[in-house]
Amino acid sequence: MSKLTALPAWLALQRHYQDISPLHMRDMFKADPQRFSRFSLQFEDILFDYSKNRIDDTTLSLLLDLAKQSGLAEKIGAMYSGQKINTTEDRAVLHIALRNRSNRPIYLSGRDVMPDVNRVLDQMRQFSEEVRIGIRRGYTGKRIRDVVNIGIGGSDLGPYTAVTALTPYIKSDFRPHFVSNVDESELLDTLDQCDQETTLFLVASKTFTTQETMTNAHSARQWFLAKARDEEAISKHFVAISTNARLVKEFGIDLENMFEFWDWVGGRYSMCSAIGLPIALAIGMERFEKILEGAHAVDEHFRTAPFERNIPVLMGLLGIWYNNFFGAESHVVLPYDHHLAFLPTYLQQADMESNGKGVDKQGRRITDYTTGPILWGQSGANGQHAFYQLIHQGTKLIPCDFLAGAQSHRHLGAHHPILMSNFFAQPEALMLGKTLDEAREELRKEGVDGERLEFLAQAKAFPGNRPTNAFLYRKLTPRTLGSLIALYEHKIFTQGAIWDINCFDQMGVELGKHLANTIQKDMAGDASIASHDGSTNGLINYYKALR
Ligand code: F6P
Repeated sequence: MSKLTALPAWLALQRHYQDISPLHMRDMFKADPQRFSRFSLQFEDILFDYSKNRIDDTTLSLLLDLAKQSGLAEKIGAMYSGQKINTTEDRAVLHIALRNRSNRPIYLSGRDVMPDVNRVLDQMRQFSEEVRIGIRRGYTGKRIRDVVNIGIGGSDLGPYTAVTALTPYIKSDFRPHFVSNVDESELLDTLDQCDQETTLFLVASKTFTTQETMTNAHSARQWFLAKARDEEAISKHFVAISTNARLVKEFGIDLENMFEFWDWVGGRYSMCSAIGLPIALAIGMERFEKILEGAHAVDEHFRTAPFERNIPVLMGLLGIWYNNFFGAESHVVLPYDHHLAFLPTYLQQADMESNGKGVDKQGRRITDYTTGPILWGQSGANGQHAFYQLIHQGTKLIPCDFLAGAQSHRHLGAHHPILMSNFFAQPEALMLGKTLDEAREELRKEGVDGERLEFLAQAKAFPGNRPTNAFLYRKLTPRTLGSLIALYEHKIFTQGAIWDINCFDQMGVELGKHLANTIQKDMAGDASIASHDGSTNGLINYYKALR
């Protein structure tokens, strides 16, 4: 038995689950008119309503006990104080320093990291302003119009999500592009829209070794030189964002044009580092700093708020309640805010690469509890017409997060009120459901009776009692975006701390990379391959016949 499942709070939660699981939230709301005010919190203008969860006061107090007994407070303290909590890689985890707007010293091995953070922010400010106002131009003197970020995973998803989310703030004559996939279609389709004279490439890679990014960067360089015909011109069109100065130099990028970050910033936690340069170029450095402010405010909330009023802690605990006691396998994120359509994809990396672990921090295989959920989602209302059927009436329990802004950036007739009516209706429907009697009554009114009525009533009834969280904010501003991202980051931390796993390595991505390198060699020539398993040999040989 693991230490976690032997904790008194864990055992008490297992017993408590037997009491709660038969209860219906419909009845809990009827019995308690104060349920919403008791189970909702506000952080700045973000309202977090968690009242539509299968919880009561006892559940919360046991979950909070679990947080305490798992040492969550000490683990938060260890992260904020620069301890090397990423033990497999022997690294500190200090993305909170990137947005430490208080500028209070944060020490790593006795050295304050803030001067380095501030130096790179100054460099980003100067560079982005010079590009935006046209001081820094292309090799023929024309203004930069297209910025192509070449990066993958954390070196792509964060800035892509933020730039998409903040579309209303983008300078009208500026076109951001993101190329991540090694499939040449993505790079070529992007380059078709660009002109060498007016395009700036940001080669973003923490390691500067990632195969997809380096392949794309080399091809972009060739495309650029095919027209510019002058290696000297590269410095005006290529910059690097990386922790690896040696490889940046080897690639041919002047270190003057390198934006540094550090090994204590995880790739999937790097949006607030120099990896955010495309965001600063798109919306301006001042607004980028608003993202940092929003994230910092949440960092302070996470660090100081008592757990019972700490939103990321509660988000994490609720997830654990469903994951570990109800057996829920996935978690869905549903933004009713078109500009946040990419958030679920961003959170897939943040959550699944962090908490998709099967070994605890002592190096023991985890056998008696489950860790990170499958995270998925899509913008509402699109999802409603695709997969909500399964959430409402399927046999699986899928906890949902709904997010929406009370105000939209642009206005067109009744579009936004219609969107919002769906944002309110779906969690209500998921919670209330429709009883068999209600379904029968509806059918009777439609003139259906007898066996047909019973048959249809079964299909039309909804079990309800499906848990949802709702996040309702004023408007999707840079500050709000920063806060939302930080809320999820700390939710992930909370869960990883309780599951006693290392959220900050990603060993599980290595095996496939290694095999791809071997297979790349096997793909040369037409000779048939026999060195892999039967299926892999068969696929490679069929590919050789077809290509
Ligand atoms: O392969 C996974 C991964 O290492 C992610 O963790 C990371 O965000 C991504 O690849 C890109 O890495 P890099 O920024 O070093 O190119």
